[in-house]
Amino acid sequence: MEQLRFSLSWCVTVAILFSVPPPSAPGANIPTPLPFKLNALCKFCDVLPSSCNATGICSSECDITSICAYRDEVCVSVWHIDGENRTVETVCHDPSLPFHGVMLDDYNNTDCLMKQYKGLGPDYYMCSCKEEECNDKLIFTAPRPKGPEIPIILISLLPLLILAVLIISFLYFRLQHQQHLKTGAKSMCPSHDFCDTHAIMNDVDHHESSSAHANSLNHNMELLPIQLDGVVGKGRFAEVYRARLKQKPTSASGANGPFQTVAVKIFPCEEYASWNSEKEIFSDAELRHENVLHFLTAEQRRAEGQYWLITAYHDKGNLQEYLRNHLLSWEQLHKLGGSLARGVAHLHSERTPCGRPKVAIAHRDLKSSNVLVKDDLTCCLCDFGLSLRLDSSMSIDELANSGQVGTARYMAPEVLESRINLENIESFKQTDVYSMALVLWEMTSRCTAIGEVKEYELPFGKLREHPCVDSMKDSVIRDRERPEIPSSWFKHLGIKLMCATIDESWDQDPEARLTAHCVLERLNALQDLDHKQLSQSPEQKVQNV
Ligand code: ADE
Repeated sequence: MEQLRFSLSWCVTVAILFSVPPPSAPGANIPTPLPFKLNALCKFCDVLPSSCNATGICSSECDITSICAYRDEVCVSVWHIDGENRTVETVCHDPSLPFHGVMLDDYNNTDCLMKQYKGLGPDYYMCSCKEEECNDKLIFTAPRPKGPEIPIILISLLPLLILAVLIISFLYFRLQHQQHLKTGAKSMCPSHDFCDTHAIMNDVDHHESSSAHANSLNHNMELLPIQLDGVVGKGRFAEVYRARLKQKPTSASGANGPFQTVAVKIFPCEEYASWNSEKEIFSDAELRHENVLHFLTAEQRRAEGQYWLITAYHDKGNLQEYLRNHLLSWEQLHKLGGSLARGVAHLHSERTPCGRPKVAIAHRDLKSSNVLVKDDLTCCLCDFGLSLRLDSSMSIDELANSGQVGTARYMAPEVLESRINLENIESFKQTDVYSMALVLWEMTSRCTAIGEVKEYELPFGKLREHPCVDSMKDSVIRDRERPEIPSSWFKHLGIKLMCATIDESWDQDPEARLTAHCVLERLNALQDLDHKQLSQSPEQKVQNV
């Protein structure tokens, strides 16, 4: 320390000499001395160990008072803690210069009010003042925080806290939802489309009505009295239940009253978008067709936190399961295949069978598990969750954003490659026709008219259960594979013609494929071949022609 120190006795002497004016004789004309400002008198021990714990008022415990060496200096004290060691530093200092790297800002005070300075950190308190020995009495007004300042910790931890809250909320809602599904507990889901009420109705009475207002919201409707029986199918976004829709009891009906068996497709609340888009597709009254699953109503089940689609129930289940367990006669194949083509042709059509205008729809996930077998062994299309309304208002961007969707095994080559011609809505229909051809092949492979019938196999059945897009690309695009059609099948003329239709429907070139209408016409034409002609070998048939 370069500053000079002076002892207290010396200081007192100097103070007397300079600060007390000399007594003057009355009347004597002595000039008044120029005002003289004494240098500050401060505690000056440099650094001493201290017992002060930075609360209340502490003494500096310094017994040296010094007159500061320079005119502008003020008294300064610094309290510091380093682990268990506490110290107090007492000095004189010129406040125009930094001290410990910070500028003193309270040196005009008469008392030494200890405070923390940003640049010093939490383990330092400092004060400065101008009165005599004012840096002896260290006045602590705020308790010393134990670690870094709380707001700093909070601010730096805020992103982590938010993330933790989000993750916990997500897990909580997921758990809640799973419990809802199991127990039917109260819903935490936000309500969408409609507030307190729940249903959009098609005709629950099961009449083949085609009301143009089938999709209007009914804000006064009660939830349907439905009792779920059991799961009959699981999809990507929802589960399907067989259920009982209770009818009004009559005197003739039993204790439980009459009921209609229906299917209920239940979407968890996170799948609102899937429910809503399938509901929108179903709500178009012009979609109604015998080969399209019959839609009854959509409901928001607030209590369970679920969204429901209620449709007709078909006891024979989906086509894939049906084919796994049953063989088809030629007549059955013809009927099933024809009804499939009729359903897809209706979906793609811009007219209803009665000639009314309708919006064409691409299914985009045609596969045997999305086809239901009706009691009369015709089929109907279901699962419109990925379907697209092909109205001319759709922009190319909207079409492009609808992305590569569907099930890889059934994807057309241009879908696998994400190279659909978005300029032409027919492209979406062409991809459906490719998938339909695979389903027709599945049906044909289980028809006794082909000769020896093997166990049921999915198309590209050699591939693993859920082949990825890349392995489908290898098979369908690189190797140009298609499901096998052995020539032994052609002994039956009907099968041969069916296979020719299939072959033209899964062409690599989407433009070269038949349309669904054309497939339907081809299959309808087979109706005219009588039994004798059909079972003749093609060679015989050629000779006859
Ligand atoms: N699986 C999926 N939907 C079905 C329905 N409507 N009827 C029977 N089984 C189904």
